[in-house]
Amino acid sequence: MGEAFEAVVARARERATPDEEERALLDGVVATVLERAEEAITTMSVDADVLQVGSTARDTWVSGDRDIDVFVRFPLDLDRPILERYGLAVGREVLPDGREEYAEHPYVTGELREVSVDLVPCYRVESATAIRSAVDRTPFHTQYLDRRLDEELAADIRAAKSFLTGIDAYGSDLRTEGFSGYLAELLLCEYGSFAALIEAAADWSPPLRLDPESHGEGSFEDPLVVIDPTDPERNVAAVLSGTQLARFQHYARELLATPRDSLFEPTSPDPLSAAATGEEIAARGTTPIVLRFSIPDLVDDQLYPQLRKSSAGIERALEERGFRVFRRETFATKLADDNDSENDDEGRTAVLLFELAVADLPNVERHEGPPVSVREHAQRFYEAYAEADATGPFVEDGQYVVERPREFTSARDFLASDALFGAALGVDVETALDAGYDLLVGAEVADLASAFGTELARYFSPKA
Ligand code: CTP
Ligand code: MG
Repeated sequence: MGEAFEAVVARARERATPDEEERALLDGVVATVLERAEEAITTMSVDADVLQVGSTARDTWVSGDRDIDVFVRFPLDLDRPILERYGLAVGREVLPDGREEYAEHPYVTGELREVSVDLVPCYRVESATAIRSAVDRTPFHTQYLDRRLDEELAADIRAAKSFLTGIDAYGSDLRTEGFSGYLAELLLCEYGSFAALIEAAADWSPPLRLDPESHGEGSFEDPLVVIDPTDPERNVAAVLSGTQLARFQHYARELLATPRDSLFEPTSPDPLSAAATGEEIAARGTTPIVLRFSIPDLVDDQLYPQLRKSSAGIERALEERGFRVFRRETFATKLADDNDSENDDEGRTAVLLFELAVADLPNVERHEGPPVSVREHAQRFYEAYAEADATGPFVEDGQYVVERPREFTSARDFLASDALFGAALGVDVETALDAGYDLLVGAEVADLASAFGTELARYFSPKA
């Protein structure tokens, strides 16, 4: 490993490692949270306990990225609705200004002295294989990693998280589809150092399977499989997309070839102006078409999978009708902050963008029938079209062919019609589109620049 590489990694570790002052701030908040939570459960007649989990419990958190994860564990015989009620009650005691969110169960999230805190209820299960819900696994992760981490590895984990953040691949939320913190930690344990991980990743040839505890079971289809040491049934990298895995490999090679600090820092391009967007569109000579609509305040984990599903469904519907999609993308405005009452009822603006190579087609379309030799089918086809408003049937290469009127000669007309709803759409997207949407075609797409200038800049100048 070259000197330049080592210097860059050393600086990344340095930047990512919290100093004494930041640690003290965090420790103080942790103490307050634990104390308040303990106090809250003593007033309930239930045998619960409180424990700190996640990266702040393992000292693998990155400086500046302060979130404390505290779990309240309840006995297994407690009914789920009661667990939820108790969990929220503790949450409200600890974080009076917090808000409720919903993952596996409702939990409370909020801020205390500028540190964000998640307070999550879970069941106290015997082992991670006996979980009632995904969060029940979390305490076992901390237990497992506690035995394997030391200061040296923790510093490399922080560097790895910074690198993944710098290349936009950190986070197992369904918008990012990247690496979770726990996955990063397991990879570091497996390879022993950040440098070793980067060297290995540069050569990976997915699908790749890692099984740190040699559980040996479970077959998974994902491009990266890391069997959870605490639960053989689970792939810790289940959310990681093939694209993000490939991006990680690309940037691992970049880091080796040209080590530089900037790879550890997220960047966003200058937003594209409406005029510049218009120029890009004209220069490419394609026809972008946009469906723009508002959608209620769904969280990213619900919105993005639905947007992607809808985008894929509409692409299929366009291609079936002969409109070749050159590239497509989805954008959405951020979820309005609950405390930001101004934006309360507006929801989010979502965009499905289709850049078409061909947006207009002739009045006729080719439709191929069966080979003439397949008597029954062939005769039925011939009879069906003989009298129809179509050219033919005629025979080509032993097959019947007709040229019949095309239902939609412009992609715009199709996207404006009710036929759009024949495409596979996400359920909330379908409802939102049903309530109405704008269609922007060609140069009109420049209208997106005011709300999505950065996204457009990324679209027209994509990076690996
Ligand atoms: N967790 C998990 N699977 C996820 C998200 C979280 O198993 N998709 C568990 C992990 O044990 C994780 C803990 O929940 O450590 C807390 O989650 P989170 O705060 O998202 O991750 P951290 O590991 O704390 O990393 P970060 O430094 O980004 O906070
Ligand atoms: Mg965390």
